[in-house]
Amino acid sequence: MRTLFIALFAITLLNCPQKNYAQESTGKKWWKEAVVYQIYPRSFKDANGDGIGDLQGIISKLDYIKSLGVNVIWLNPIYSSPNDDNGYDVSDYRNIMKEFGTMNDFNALLKGMHERGIKLVMDLVVNHSSDEHEWFKQSRSSRTSPYRDYYHWWNAEKGKPNPRYSLFDINHDAWRYDSLTNAYYLHYFSRKQPDLNWENPKLRSEIYAMMKYWCDKGIDGFRLDAFQFAAKDTTFPKFPDGYEKNFSLYYAVGPHLHDYLQEMNREVLSRYDVMSVAEGAGNSYKDAHDMVDADRKELNMAYAFEGVDIANNPKGYSVLHFKEVFSRWDSLFASKGWLSIFLANHDQARMVSRFGNDSPQFRELSSKMLTTFIMTMRGTPYYYNGDELGMTNIRFDKIEDYRDMSTLNEYKHQQNIGGDMQKFMEGIKYACRDNGRTPIQWDGTKNAGFTSGTPWIKVNPNYKTINVAAEEKDQNSCLNYFRKVVALRNHNKVLVYGKYTLLDKNNPNVYAYTREGDGKKMLIVLNFSANKAQTNIGITVKNAKLLAANYTDSAATVYNSSNIRLRPYESLIYELNN
Ligand code: GLC
Ligand code: CA
Repeated sequence: MRTLFIALFAITLLNCPQKNYAQESTGKKWWKEAVVYQIYPRSFKDANGDGIGDLQGIISKLDYIKSLGVNVIWLNPIYSSPNDDNGYDVSDYRNIMKEFGTMNDFNALLKGMHERGIKLVMDLVVNHSSDEHEWFKQSRSSRTSPYRDYYHWWNAEKGKPNPRYSLFDINHDAWRYDSLTNAYYLHYFSRKQPDLNWENPKLRSEIYAMMKYWCDKGIDGFRLDAFQFAAKDTTFPKFPDGYEKNFSLYYAVGPHLHDYLQEMNREVLSRYDVMSVAEGAGNSYKDAHDMVDADRKELNMAYAFEGVDIANNPKGYSVLHFKEVFSRWDSLFASKGWLSIFLANHDQARMVSRFGNDSPQFRELSSKMLTTFIMTMRGTPYYYNGDELGMTNIRFDKIEDYRDMSTLNEYKHQQNIGGDMQKFMEGIKYACRDNGRTPIQWDGTKNAGFTSGTPWIKVNPNYKTINVAAEEKDQNSCLNYFRKVVALRNHNKVLVYGKYTLLDKNNPNVYAYTREGDGKKMLIVLNFSANKAQTNIGITVKNAKLLAANYTDSAATVYNSSNIRLRPYESLIYELNN
């Protein structure tokens, strides 16, 4: 076995005379300079009329994506899947989901992207697989199956295992009894998403081989889904009562997680010019640094949730808190490590509905303001598809309209425990993942031009006004503003690497900061409120050059020395002559 491994290793080295990318020190990197555009394939564009977005649909929109100026696409899972959780339940890691197309479609997509200078980051879902994966079928079949230890089983004669919280289960019970072998299997997510056993070296080498399979196809990176939960104490000790309220403290960065990441880096990531990012950044800055500091040889950048988590209440959030969180993370990663910057993804509500203001009066302004924020912070921006149009939450009234399995299961759970259903329905209107998963609004025709069939989830009725075709024609649309600030970032590396300094820290409405480096200094001023606001930034902007503004007549913005007056949601990017 060992010799075979060494032989394979030697062949790999001969075939890939690549440099060892992991050994490069910190400093400039393509993945720091990238602007990542996240595509949720199911909702992006349907090419064959079955109501489900597909790879050919994405191919048909590559020129559009290129026109945005983004240079990396993160694609949510496209592997074979029974779709209990829209692809996050993989039944074959080396094939394409039937609904999305074929491997030929995938090859064409990758080629089309590379021809346009766009890189591809794939979702890697290896905390768990689908229960329909061959490994699990084998594992389930008998206690002596060679695949038994690919998953976590607890034989029932030992008694009930200590409780584990499941995020998606109707009863939130992560142990599922299987009578076939009189044992329980573990699933942190749904029953159809059994957790893989990372303690098993055979499982790990299968995963690395699979990752290489995709790297050899030429993909450019991985986003590691839920990976911070992958390592477990497999004695499954008892957790303190109430642990489930803060389960991440017990689930994230378990024993050997860093060993696995270092091994993955050694075996796969360091051998290709790929970027890597894990969902979640552990429970402390140390966890986050340990995952991404270059000398650790694990991953490239942290993707921490504290920034989005502050807006989990429909009543709103504190701008002071927002500034504090983003400034703190920046300062802790200023000299080591690297961050992702994002305000939305496929698990979150729409950016403008949550962090901005989606009323007709302020939707465009606040959406552009938030876009300005994302594109001017240090860290790699991750921008979620549809946000460039200012797409909004759909706020379904009826449970029948929802599609997200986790929401539907929680609905049943609340019913079972006699929960307050009205409160639940209000909550999901604000926060449900489906808000971010309605089809991309391409034009004003039926189903927003997403499909000629019946869409798998309803199209937001506001598509008649909010859509790509309409926004293409409007010079001042969210879409064209997005293009403008992406270009600004691409052409001004100071926005990527420059030092970040918060100004007017205690201002409860205005977020102002500078980015400085290589002899350039930019000033960014953002009014996060629906009212007029003022900021005293302590810097004279008199001779500054205005590079971007979300009001069309920003030349008229009244400023006087270092006092800037802002209209609702006004955002400004200046270049300062220092
Ligand atoms: C991650 C994904 C989410 C999925 C879950 C289980 O949180 O982003 O969409 O449901 O993992 O795979
Ligand atoms: Ca389709």
